[in-house]
Amino acid sequence: MSVFPFMVFLLFLLVVSSASEYNAELPSRITALSGSCVQIPCRFNVSENSLKITERLFGFWIKKNHSLQSLESLVVFNGSSNITKGFSHIEILGNLSQCECTTVFYDVMNNHSDKYYFRVEIMPSDWKYTYSDNPINISVSDVPQPLILKPTDLKEVMENTTVNLSCSAEAPCPKQPPTISWTNIPESDNITTQLQEKPDKTQSVFSHMTFKASYMDHRKNISCTAKYPRNTSNDSTVETTMMLRVLFPPIETHITIDPSASVSVGTNVNLTCKSKANPSNDMNYTWYKGGQENQLDFGEQLTFTVNRKSGGWYFCIAKNEHGFQISEEIQLIVAESLSLIIGCVVGVSAFLLIFLLITLRLQRLKASTIKKTDISDQGHDKQVQISSIYTNGAFVSGVYIYIYIYIYICIYIITVHHIHCFS
Ligand SMILES: *[C@@H]1O[C@H](CO)[C@@H](O)[C@H](O)[C@H]1NC(C)=O
Ligand SMILES: *[C@@H]1O[C@H](CO)[C@@H](O)[C@H](O)[C@H]1NC(C)=O
Ligand SMILES: *[C@@H]1O[C@H](CO)[C@@H](O)[C@H](O)[C@H]1NC(C)=O
Ligand SMILES: *[C@@H]1O[C@H](CO)[C@@H](O)[C@H](O)[C@H]1NC(C)=O
Ligand SMILES: *[C@@H]1O[C@H](CO)[C@@H](O)[C@H](O)[C@H]1NC(C)=O
Ligand SMILES: *[C@@H]1O[C@H](CO)[C@@H](O)[C@H](O)[C@H]1NC(C)=O
Ligand SMILES: *[C@@H]1O[C@H](CO)[C@@H](O)[C@H](O)[C@H]1NC(C)=O
Ligand SMILES: *[C@@H]1O[C@H](CO)[C@@H](O)[C@H](O)[C@H]1NC(C)=O
Ligand SMILES: *[C@@H]1O[C@H](CO)[C@@H](O)[C@H](O)[C@H]1NC(C)=O
Ligand SMILES: *[C@@H]1O[C@H](CO)[C@@H](O)[C@H](O)[C@H]1NC(C)=O
Ligand SMILES: *[C@@H]1O[C@H](CO)[C@@H](O)[C@H](O)[C@H]1NC(C)=O
Ligand SMILES: *[C@@H]1O[C@H](CO)[C@@H](O)[C@H](O)[C@H]1NC(C)=O
Repeated sequence: MSVFPFMVFLLFLLVVSSASEYNAELPSRITALSGSCVQIPCRFNVSENSLKITERLFGFWIKKNHSLQSLESLVVFNGSSNITKGFSHIEILGNLSQCECTTVFYDVMNNHSDKYYFRVEIMPSDWKYTYSDNPINISVSDVPQPLILKPTDLKEVMENTTVNLSCSAEAPCPKQPPTISWTNIPESDNITTQLQEKPDKTQSVFSHMTFKASYMDHRKNISCTAKYPRNTSNDSTVETTMMLRVLFPPIETHITIDPSASVSVGTNVNLTCKSKANPSNDMNYTWYKGGQENQLDFGEQLTFTVNRKSGGWYFCIAKNEHGFQISEEIQLIVAESLSLIIGCVVGVSAFLLIFLLITLRLQRLKASTIKKTDISDQGHDKQVQISSIYTNGAFVSGVYIYIYIYIYICIYIITVHHIHCFS
């Protein structure tokens, strides 16, 4: 009784089918890794009526040409007979009764790269449909897809700001997802990694790293590496690197003295103010001396010829557009110069010589006085002899004292000078 309307219904379906009222939602292309699997996210729609009256749905995958009559076309998976051709294994994961056709192609090879179409057959209503408008282009590659590190345009970040980096790796085979690892990461890192679904329903492993930028991270090359497990002999890895640039005010500011912190008068000395900063090309340095209010000079290097007033404590201030830092004070010691030592020794010698000469003169005067008194007496010859011997003895001992004091002062000055040198 109801055969005729049913035939009309089928005819109606056929007409509608050719107008492609039905469609499947699946990505238009996917890149698989050879030796691994590829999971195709898939949903489809069918006639509501045929779904109501049917008990069973079968899924099919057709390679190359959706027109089954074509010699080129190949049914790689026949769901009604459960036959797989050209692949080691194909599995429809989705529940077809709920219009889910997500499928896994296992152990894909390069020669599997092609266009594939999904087809549904419903029994016993015998409703059949190939989703010819929605093929998927599977391309099989021997190397994994490049990683995506975001933000791609990370410019310089200010010190102490929170930086978020994300690294994502395609996971065409979510059953064997890649593992993501980071290298050369800042200390304050916090990493979370998860499998994530993209808008086209394919999956990717997404690793998110958050850290507080430190000046020590400046110019650090941060790398993200993904390792893909495969059925082939060796796993594949893919890596991406980015250089972190951190802006920071001067730090580790200190002074170096060339040639040494203990110098003698007349020496040219270079004091250099060293500091780390970013940017560092437009740094301003100011020099100060302890106890003096005004700055001595500007510039990274302070060069001067040491005089006796040069000794003291020096410090510098390094400044860039983000701030400044004051260095520790450093002491410059002025040691006696060699000419000063010689001058000192000569001076002391001259003084001693004069002193000796005066002493000798006094002794001569004394002796001549004795002589005069002796002449008035009788045995004067003997007395003259005695006084001349007396004078000679005073001269000799005076020379000894002079040499002794001279050597002593020389040793003293040299010792003091050396103590300066080594302190
Ligand atoms: C199938 O999906 C397409 C697009 O989503 C829609 O235009 C069409 O009406 C749907 N067909 C049925 C029978 O639900
Ligand atoms: C598919 O095969 C049919 C019949 O052989 C042919 O007419 C059609 O051009 C082919 N389509 C493609 C995309 O190769
Ligand atoms: C699926 O296999 C069955 C049994 O071998 C066969 O009758 C049917 O035609 C096949 N379907 C397709 C679309 O190849
Ligand atoms: C289809 O065949 C595979 C082995 O090729 C088997 O593991 C699976 O259970 C079968 N599925 C059905 C629905 O028969
Ligand atoms: C693909 O290549 C493999 C060897 O690499 C071969 O065993 C297999 O038969 C080929 N499959 C097809 C469909 O050509
Ligand atoms: C598939 O969906 C149907 C209808 O919602 C349900 O009855 C059936 O149990 C589901 N099958 C599986 C394997 O989940
Ligand atoms: C599949 O896509 C690749 C590029 O992703 C392209 O080179 C190739 O021609 C496409 N294959 C087909 C059958 O459209
Ligand atoms: C960053 O934090 C450190 C430690 O709290 C602090 O010493 C430094 O001044 C901060 N840098 C900036 C630019 O605020
Ligand atoms: C980084 O992430 C944190 C929390 O996850 C958020 O508070 C902050 O605004 C993010 N910063 C940027 C630059 O996206
Ligand atoms: C890392 O971040 C997560 C979520 O943002 C947070 O719950 C966790 O406490 C953080 N861990 C550390 C060590 O900061
Ligand atoms: C000081 O620096 C100048 C220029 O940088 C250099 O020519 C000179 O040799 C340096 N002097 C010393 C004592 O290092
Ligand atoms: C450094 O000094 C120059 C000239 O004295 C000045 O124009 C510049 O703004 C200063 N730069 C900073 C970072 O203070």
